[in-house]
Formats: sequence, structure tokens, C-alpha cells
Amino acid sequence: MSTFVKKMKNMENPFKFGTIVQEEFFTDRKEEIGKIQQILESKNHLILISPRRFGKSSLIHKATKIIGRPTIYVDLQLVTDIDDFASQLLKKLFVIYKWERIKQAVKSFRIIPTISIHPGNNTVEVTFNAANDVFICLEDVLNLIEKLGQKGERPIVVIDEFQEIRNIGKQIEKKLRSVLQVHQSVNYVFLGSAESMMREIFEKKKSPFYHFGLLMPLPKIPYDDFFDFLNKRFRKIIKNSKETAERILAFTGCHPYYTQQLAFHIWMGIENKSFTGNYIEHAITEMIMLHDNDYERLWNTIRQTDKKILIALSQQNLRALNLPASTLYSGLKRLSEQGYVIKETTFEMDDPFFKHWIIKRREK
Ligand SMILES: Nc1ncnc2c1ncn2[C@@H]1O[C@H](COP(=O)(O)OP(=O)(O)O)[C@@H](O)[C@H]1O
Ligand SMILES: [Mg+2]
Repeated sequence: MSTFVKKMKNMENPFKFGTIVQEEFFTDRKEEIGKIQQILESKNHLILISPRRFGKSSLIHKATKIIGRPTIYVDLQLVTDIDDFASQLLKKLFVIYKWERIKQAVKSFRIIPTISIHPGNNTVEVTFNAANDVFICLEDVLNLIEKLGQKGERPIVVIDEFQEIRNIGKQIEKKLRSVLQVHQSVNYVFLGSAESMMREIFEKKKSPFYHFGLLMPLPKIPYDDFFDFLNKRFRKIIKNSKETAERILAFTGCHPYYTQQLAFHIWMGIENKSFTGNYIEHAITEMIMLHDNDYERLWNTIRQTDKKILIALSQQNLRALNLPASTLYSGLKRLSEQGYVIKETTFEMDDPFFKHWIIKRREK
């Protein structure tokens, strides 16, 4: 493929991957934003699930910003235990609400936390020195949020990576549910990646959080929108931007994270003029080489049956696989839980680069 590179004037790479994306790095999700708005403007709670890196965190940041009500966001992956959970929530309250108001409210807590301000940057540190019954710390903070909602705008509490709740404390789900279910002036949003676990928490009859809110699965970004997103940006530096967008999406299958990652590297290659000839192939090969060690290590941790399934998936030929249905099913389930496989319309590999690594390896 020959590329005509337009004159470039120190243009910033318009692609971003790995962290939460907003503004010009964010595309589409109009339908989802509308639906989230509708749910959070009602008295209901929301459960947003998808495989990792599909854009849940980015989407909820965008939606809550549009809604504009006080939003308290906590990522459970970064929370170590129950009192840490309570501390992080309270810390956010100090940022959102008037300092004096929260300070006053904290005086009636059953366990009084230590609050200090970092003089350098004015950030707040909150620590609960709870010896045993740590759950009451969390309960007091959550009830304070409800109270704040009764007196003003209804706050939105977003708990990201909620499936981690099980690592934070024993039996916490039950206690948490009993506190949250009486709240009338807060909307709760639960985000989660380990899809099967999230479904277990919210869809199993015996689970304390059974049907606690509306479950919304987040799909990949629609082809046409992602195409426009890529085309508009590549158009600024190359002539065959349409073909480039097409080929990127053919490779990544519209996976939000991998699409941005590949686009980022292609842009960088064009900018540095480091690619000759087929620059898309070149970028892909480079990325696979970069991760060769990781993929090899991963591959060696996978059991034999699962390797067979991954090979079949990489060849898009699951049907030809000669495995008993139950073995195939439990393998796919395991691989999904580990994040290697995702289910869209059919089962597919999550990481297109890993998929290509497998294909290339077997060609050798
Ligand atoms: N709406 C979007 N538009 C463009 N890229 C997106 C969008 N949502 C996600 N991405 C890409 O996916 C990556 C992961 O998004 P993130 O919100 O962290 O996903 P999750 O919370 O589901 O793991 C982002 O860094 C970005 O590259
Ligand atoms: Mg996230």
C-alpha cells in the first residue's frame, strides 16, 4: 500500500488507550448516554457490564459529567479493605461538598476518622482507626451520602470494578445491600468487568444484590462510528485514510482499546516515517514482537484443551474442533473468566494481537 503522507506540523497523536478517555478521544455512545441519563434521572440503580477495556469507566465519567449532579466515584480495584472503602468515599465528599459541612457531619459518626490536609497540594487524607467493627465506618459514610441527597441534589455513587467487593471483606455484600436498599436519595452505579461474576452478583436469586438495578451490557463501538472517528483523524496526515480505517477495524474487530492502540502506533509510525511499504502490517508485526515474551509466558500457563480452543478461535473455526460439547463449554467459560475470550455475537478472542501471535507462531 503506498501512502502519501501529508505535511505534518507537530500534530499531537489523536489516539489514546489504557486510561479513561474523554473529549476528543471519546466517540459515540450516544444511545448509551441517553439510556444512562434516563435511568439515573429515575430512582433506579444501574449495573453496567462488559469485558475489560470496552469503555465502561470512560462512558460513566462522560455520562455523569453531562448529568452534572454530585458524583462520588470509587474504583474497588484500588480499595484494600472496608475501612479503606469508607475512607475513600469520605475523601471524595470533602472535595465535592463544603468542607465545614462534612466536617460537622463526621462528628456524629460512631467511629471518628482522622482527617488531615496535605499542606502542599491541599488534598485530604482520611483514616478510620477502626479496630473491629469496621463495617459501621462504611455504613456511616453511606448514610451521610443519603442525607446529603435528601437536602440537595441527588448524588450518584459510582462503584467501579464492583466484582472486587468479594476481596474487600467477608459477607460485605449482604451488609452493604441492607444499607443501600433503604436509600431513596442516591443513585448507585455498579461497573464490572469479570462478566460472569457480575452476573452472579446481580442475577443469582440467592445473591444479596439480586436485581438491585437495571442491567446494561455495553457492546463494542459500532463500526460506522469508529470508522468515522479513525478516518477523520487519519485524513489529516494521509491520503488513504479510508482504507487505513477499514483495515484497522478489520484487524481489531472494533474493540475500543485495541483499535485505539493500533491507531496510535500507526500514527506514530507515519509521523516518524519509520514504516515503509505496508505500514499497517508493519505496526501490527511490531506490536506482536513487542509482546512476544508476554504472549509466550501466557501461552505456557494455558492448559492443553484451552490451547486447542484458542487455536480454533484464532482460525475462526470453532466448529471443526473435535471436543465433547461439555469440554468445549467449560473451556470457553474458563477462558472467558480469565479474559482471553469474549462473547459478542459469537465467541472470539479478546486480544487481536494475541490472536495473530498464535496464527503466526503456527505458520512457522
Ligand atoms: N467511547 C470511546 N471512544 C473511543 N475510545 C474508547 C471509548 N471508550 C473506550 N475507549 C478506548 O478503550 C480504552 C479502555 O476504556 P475504559 O473506559 O478504561 O474501559 P473499561 O472501564 O471498560 O475497562 C480507552 O483507553 C480507550 O482507548
Ligand atoms: Mg474501567
